Amino acid sequence: MAKKKWSGRFEKGLDPLALDFTQSVEFDKKLYYYDILGSMAHARGLARAGILSKKEAKKIAGGLHAVVRDIQSGKFQFKEELEDVHRNIESALIKKIGRVGGKLHTGRSRNDQVALDFRLYCRDRLEELHDSLVGLERATLKKAKETVDILMPGYTHLQRAQPIRFAHHLLAYIEMWERDRTRILEVFRRINISPLGSGALAGTAFPVDREGVARDLGFTEVSHNSLDAVSDRDFAIEIASLSSLLMMHLSRLAEEWILWSTTEFNFIHLPDSFCTGSSMMPQKKNPDILELIRGKTGRVYGHLISLLTVMKSLPLAYNKDMQEDKEAVFDLFETVINCIDILAAMMPKVQPNRTALQRAVSDSFLLATDLADWLVKKGVDFRSSHEIVSKVVLFSLQKKKELHELSLADFRRFSKTFNQEVYQILKPEISVNLRRTTGGTARQTVLKEIKRLEERLP
Ligand code: ARG
Repeated sequence: MAKKKWSGRFEKGLDPLALDFTQSVEFDKKLYYYDILGSMAHARGLARAGILSKKEAKKIAGGLHAVVRDIQSGKFQFKEELEDVHRNIESALIKKIGRVGGKLHTGRSRNDQVALDFRLYCRDRLEELHDSLVGLERATLKKAKETVDILMPGYTHLQRAQPIRFAHHLLAYIEMWERDRTRILEVFRRINISPLGSGALAGTAFPVDREGVARDLGFTEVSHNSLDAVSDRDFAIEIASLSSLLMMHLSRLAEEWILWSTTEFNFIHLPDSFCTGSSMMPQKKNPDILELIRGKTGRVYGHLISLLTVMKSLPLAYNKDMQEDKEAVFDLFETVINCIDILAAMMPKVQPNRTALQRAVSDSFLLATDLADWLVKKGVDFRSSHEIVSKVVLFSLQKKKELHELSLADFRRFSKTFNQEVYQILKPEISVNLRRTTGGTARQTVLKEIKRLEERLP
């Protein structure tokens, strides 16, 4: 434990308890790569501005390279007494190349440094998240193509409502994920702004070319207010928010698949390789993966609330509270990317149970709406036709018959408009294919959407 003083300003070293409480190196060492990337660009910027000589800049770059090598080979020892990743790396650099290493921090504060590192980190992870999501969407599109001819009951209120295509249901999720993907791309644009040069809070007195350094790091813009730049964590909150929405979508699919894989539904067969057994009940096959996806949604929402709360009412500019941002965001990315990847791996192996789905979709009451629509096409107003068909339904329930098992005379007790033609429409295949407008369940419509989505994906 260090007794080392912070600087000449301090008469005493930090209490070990205080040191342990404030240090962040334990988790922010994850940022080492971005810290060094940022430092290299900063050193090049200082050299271009004539603040560092070419020789000094070269020495610093060489030293930073050596530090990366040490870290990547496992030789580097992060020290708690050096508080965070930034001071650990700077101190290692000075140890390697001497006092010239101390020039690196010219015109920079850890406040703009951490904002920079964190943005660089988020930029890369967002790209990974984006690519994972595209992978899941592709796997789902493939499944939709394979299952386009399988029908199933669609539900509202978890009650059987109307026939739909299994593939149409899958495409509903791709729509949600496409909105998630758009959000990722939007947040990426707002992250891709360089805060470097904002100093501790008031900018820098050294004539560095902020725009040049930003370009060097692949940023599209520089921040325009030093106070905001060091105290902005909107991007972390936006990541948590888009992740929460994304997890909410995954949790709905997870829940549906859990339900559909029960003996009661038996709509799908989950792959053994993504299920577990019970330690006591030999017959059990549990959908643990899906349950965990559902469960981890809570954890992601938790991060959103904690980030919002950390930032609430914080006076400008940097406050140490903000150090709490990192663990949340690290865990967010890991959790969400894991959930997406495992779902994508599972997708090709989830098998719809054609027999059970066929049986379920043959429930003729799913076609009550089609019957009412048919009457409307024959000139009956919709309110009356709704009333007529609800009476027909009640009648067949009382007679314990399916709609197509009623005789024409039975139908005609409720409306003289009924004729032999009704038997033609009382088929689920007819019902789904009648819905041809964009977004509907007709075979051609669904195939068209599959194609549109395929073309949309990068
Ligand atoms: N470890 C700190 C953080 O993550 C770095 C910035 C420290 N700045 C400061 N003024 N103490 O927020």
